Amino acid sequence: MGTVILGTGSSLPKRIMTNKDLEGIVDTDDAWIYSRTGIKNRRIGGAGEQTHQLAAAASREALQMAGLSAEELDIIVVGTISSHMLMPSCACFVQKELGAVNAFAYDINAACSGFIYGMDMADKYIRSEHRKKILVIGAETLSSRLNWDDRNTCILFGDGAGAAVLGHSDDNGRGVIGSNHRSDGSLWKLLHMHAPPSYNPDLEVPDNSGSYIVMEGREVFKYAVKAMEDSVRGLLQQENISMDSIKLFIPHQANMRILTNLLDRLGFPEEKVFFNVSEYGNTSAASVPIALDEANRQGLFTEGDIILLCAFGGGFTWGASLIKW
Ligand code: UT7
Repeated sequence: MGTVILGTGSSLPKRIMTNKDLEGIVDTDDAWIYSRTGIKNRRIGGAGEQTHQLAAAASREALQMAGLSAEELDIIVVGTISSHMLMPSCACFVQKELGAVNAFAYDINAACSGFIYGMDMADKYIRSEHRKKILVIGAETLSSRLNWDDRNTCILFGDGAGAAVLGHSDDNGRGVIGSNHRSDGSLWKLLHMHAPPSYNPDLEVPDNSGSYIVMEGREVFKYAVKAMEDSVRGLLQQENISMDSIKLFIPHQANMRILTNLLDRLGFPEEKVFFNVSEYGNTSAASVPIALDEANRQGLFTEGDIILLCAFGGGFTWGASLIKW
């Protein structure tokens, strides 16, 4: 018995913001952005494209592929840091949008690692309760959480959502093989976003005047490469799987330079890696499931193939997962 992905889906806002468009917003240029990040375009949400609305659209696609109705879902988990409300969770709004009346729903706050953390939780749940069907989503509208005067951050991120429906398979060989996830809260300052203002001065919470992403880009870059390398190596060792046996590597799409550094350090061939960062930028928790869905729909892997996922984000949070499709 293994936990398999029964269906995937994704949804992206209609509006494309190019590097040229950003030239009119901050002091930057297309050549700088493309050479430092590999990003050309990103999607920016508009009317009808809030985080939960994108998440629901991605979920409908995933449910359709899985051949399941929303009523058959038992749990909905959304990895997000950019829902339009602190409470209720984004997952509760998705539940409402889908009419998933039999599911309980909650969010995971793990920044860019939200989807792979959620998948890990779903895997463990399904292993103990075989009949469960779990919808795991990564969804963000980070455009609502960016300081559009800060050229260090606003050029990097984009909006979107990806989803996967997980259930069990009786085929012993298939499914989630394992995961290797970590966090390091001591490094929180390097990449963070404040909460809305606090109304209790005694709590001495930090400056909450702006609830947007703040980042020490160079430091994040260094940690991201090293952490993802360690996670992948640790996972392959833990599961006794060789790098050669991986059919497709779907990493978090943060930045092309982070990815090429990671691949160099791992000695992993670029031809076996899925990239879409040039079109969507960094969509945080949505990045891995959007890429997974696109790769799935392009037929880049088939039953029995081994897929490697990995992510790194604010917290810090990071990790890697292996699936036998
Ligand atoms: O999921 C993880 C999320 N985080 C990330 O993926 C970010 C990881 N970090 C990075 O990708 C890179 O650090 C950045 C792309 C953010 C920045 O690239 P960098 O090569 O580390 O540049 P830098 O921050 O060291 O800045 C170099 C120069 C500076 O100018 P001076 O001080 O040398 O005159 C910056 O002010 O580039 C300047 N700069 C820009 N110039 C044009 C910074 N942002 C921009 C910009 N356009 N958008």
